[in-house]
Amino acid sequence: MSKIIKIIQERQSARVPYDSNRQIPKDALKKILEAAKWTPTAHNMQNFEIIVVDDKVMLEKIGNIKSRISEEFLRENYEQLSFSKEELLKKKTGILGAMFPPDWVDPKKMAEAARKAEPMPLTQSIRGSPTLLIVVYDSRKRAPASHGDVLGFISLGCLMENMWLMAQSLGVSFHILSSFSAPPIESEIKKLFGVPECMKIAFTCRLGYPTGASKYLRVRRDIEDFTHHNKYGNKGI
Ligand SMILES: Cc1cc2nc3c(=O)[nH]c(=O)nc-3n(C[C@H](O)[C@H](O)[C@H](O)COP(=O)(O)O)c2cc1C
Repeated sequence: MSKIIKIIQERQSARVPYDSNRQIPKDALKKILEAAKWTPTAHNMQNFEIIVVDDKVMLEKIGNIKSRISEEFLRENYEQLSFSKEELLKKKTGILGAMFPPDWVDPKKMAEAARKAEPMPLTQSIRGSPTLLIVVYDSRKRAPASHGDVLGFISLGCLMENMWLMAQSLGVSFHILSSFSAPPIESEIKKLFGVPECMKIAFTCRLGYPTGASKYLRVRRDIEDFTHHNKYGNKGI
């Protein structure tokens, strides 16, 4: 029990460069995929396929894809940012804006920066990762009677967490790259890997071993903030 909570608490987004020369051992990769295999999914749909990319040429080809950060992302991302440690500790949700370029602190400057920004190659997202897992799902299907396939998406979230916790337990760093699901990048990646038209990228994760420490402020709400005892609004237990 204590081991599980330790792994859950220590799991984190390792947004740092990884050592491109240090491969993920096959055995560790298999364990991460075994954790994927046992994911709970709505109606046991197992609504995912995973493309394991560890071929240097393919990684380089992905790295050469260029993309521009979307204004929509920046605008909505802004709402989740705090601009000081004190603000973040008080809010208990979101992330610290200090992780981003100084211009992003102001929403107008942020939008302007996005408009002016040159498209960036994805090497800057992959940052040395020797292995990427690209998770795709069939967009034509949904969990039975699930409006907006919310149950299907929850299932994909369970998959993400299963793999992430297993990676954590093995000492393998893990970082989600949602940008690979954004339309221009997604279509390039699908072309590169021969992914059928009906499939969509749910998420991509980079695995690896960091070249430096991944230290940043992680906050969470208290249990009393999100728990409602027997009646909505009756906070705590
Ligand atoms: C569905 C989902 C999408 C995410 N997308 C990204 C992403 O594109 N880039 C990123 O750096 N982190 C991404 N994250 C990681 C979250 O930002 C992170 O889990 C959250 O800030 C809490 O930090 P922690 O993982 O270190 O505990 C994503 C997480 C989830 C669950």
